[in-house]
Amino acid sequence: MDLSVSKLAQRLTVAGQSHLLQFWDELSPEQQAELTLALQGMDFQEINGFFKSAMETSSSSKQEKMDARMEPVPREVLGSVTRDKESLKDWEQTGLHQISQSKVAVLLLAGGQGTRLGVSYPKGMYDVGLPSHKTLFQIQAERILKLQQLAEQKHNVKCCIPWYIMTSGRTMESTKDFFSRHKYFGLDKNNIVFFQQGMLPAMDYNGKVILENKGKPSMAPDGNGGLYRALGNQGIIDEMEQRGIQFIHVYCVDNILVKVADPAFVGFCVQKGADCGAKVVEKTNPTEAVGVVCKVDGLYQVVEYSEITLATAEKRSADGRLMFNAGNVANHFFSFSFLKDIVEKYEPQLQHHVAQKKIPFVNAQGDLIKPDKPNGIKMEKFVFDIFQFSKTFVVFEVLREDEFSPLKNADSQDGKDTPTTAKHALLSLHHRWVLNAGGHFIDENGTRVPAIPRDGAAASVTDDGNRNLKDGTDLPIKCEISPLVSYGGEGLEELVKGREFRPTLMIDELGVHELVKNGV
Ligand code: UD1
Repeated sequence: MDLSVSKLAQRLTVAGQSHLLQFWDELSPEQQAELTLALQGMDFQEINGFFKSAMETSSSSKQEKMDARMEPVPREVLGSVTRDKESLKDWEQTGLHQISQSKVAVLLLAGGQGTRLGVSYPKGMYDVGLPSHKTLFQIQAERILKLQQLAEQKHNVKCCIPWYIMTSGRTMESTKDFFSRHKYFGLDKNNIVFFQQGMLPAMDYNGKVILENKGKPSMAPDGNGGLYRALGNQGIIDEMEQRGIQFIHVYCVDNILVKVADPAFVGFCVQKGADCGAKVVEKTNPTEAVGVVCKVDGLYQVVEYSEITLATAEKRSADGRLMFNAGNVANHFFSFSFLKDIVEKYEPQLQHHVAQKKIPFVNAQGDLIKPDKPNGIKMEKFVFDIFQFSKTFVVFEVLREDEFSPLKNADSQDGKDTPTTAKHALLSLHHRWVLNAGGHFIDENGTRVPAIPRDGAAASVTDDGNRNLKDGTDLPIKCEISPLVSYGGEGLEELVKGREFRPTLMIDELGVHELVKNGV
């Protein structure tokens, strides 16, 4: 061992992590160099501290106590697209005005590993099988482009919505490469800023860093709350300040219906003078895997589905609805000054959450073991853990069928949150847009397809897989509208009013077309 390695060995001994060098002599010089580099980049004192406090806060007695401390979101901080219809236009105008002044940025959390979906590439590159075969990244990019245009037309100024994209060590290169290959989907590349979140090692229950192979510690991104550290240490918060950004819409990559920089949400938060806001949908099923926005000890928080007991998840209010029904759709609003305060002052106070995992490891004999039950933890911060610091917090309730269909899992029979459910959610939203704009659909015999399926009628539109009621499953009419044509259903009347279409209907920048036999 040379001097720098023996220094490293000493540091590891002090930190109780000397096992990380146990296979040193078996490694090739390249592997030794890689391991040295990986370990030198780790602050073991900090990591051991994270482990200790994460384990303390995740102990089950504390979790149970937390259930008793939870209260639902009070009505006065809540805005709703259904209950507050009369204000909606006004909120939208305010949001659009802020966008036209280039004061609104969007920030995409795309550092996750997509483990449940089971793909080896970033989730944003996924094609759920729409007629256009657009990926999630492309759909989001085109919504940004369209919204810029809408704001420019309305206010007669040039504007931009900068797009900050957080990736992790594992997703950075492929994400950047994908955007470059697709020419940034028509956006100005100077307004897309990639940055990288941190990684943390997986630990066993005794606080020892797990070795994934003889020369490599097992590392994972530090959770989507790794955002705040990354914003500071990569100069992103300064970049935002230089651009004069005032409001930031933060969202997750996996929701195919996401209204990026949603003017209504932004406008609502701005009008309420909020420093922080969360978009929610009504949670109707106690075991649905969404976190709920609520208050804990008087402070706003999201309590994750994995952190709540079933008894609490099942509690109902007098009206019969779930008491904790503000389902977090991972769409957040921050004022710039709030975000800056978080980055500069509060981030170190955020605690890591603990996820128990089955983590492949090498044992002392050097054999690779794939455990069949959890053998260690991953530590993650969560993006919403900063709600507790908000002084003016608001919640915006939207309709699930219009705005929320996340892609989490691979396709399977009756699967939830899969490529198929995401595709269907988008097609059926666009179908409704066409109906609302006065268009109609007909089957191959020229008969109008009813807006709401009826057994016999719907079953007749089966030919190329359009609506049918096979096994009681209603497939949506195939209709896809490019975000370049419509951001949220606007501007369609002149294209569809009074017209009849045979699915598959595609409306894009080239016009209105019927595609024949294009299996969805
Ligand atoms: C998330 C929310 C949950 C919400 C649900 C809705 C969090 C912590 N939880 O849960 O409250 O009800 O979405 O769909 O936000 N990511 C990173 N870096 C990481 C880990 C994740 O950027 O280290 C990103 C992912 O790329 C993804 C997003 O964060 O865009 C959400 O991650 P995921 O692990 O899918 O969160 P859920 O558990 O589904």
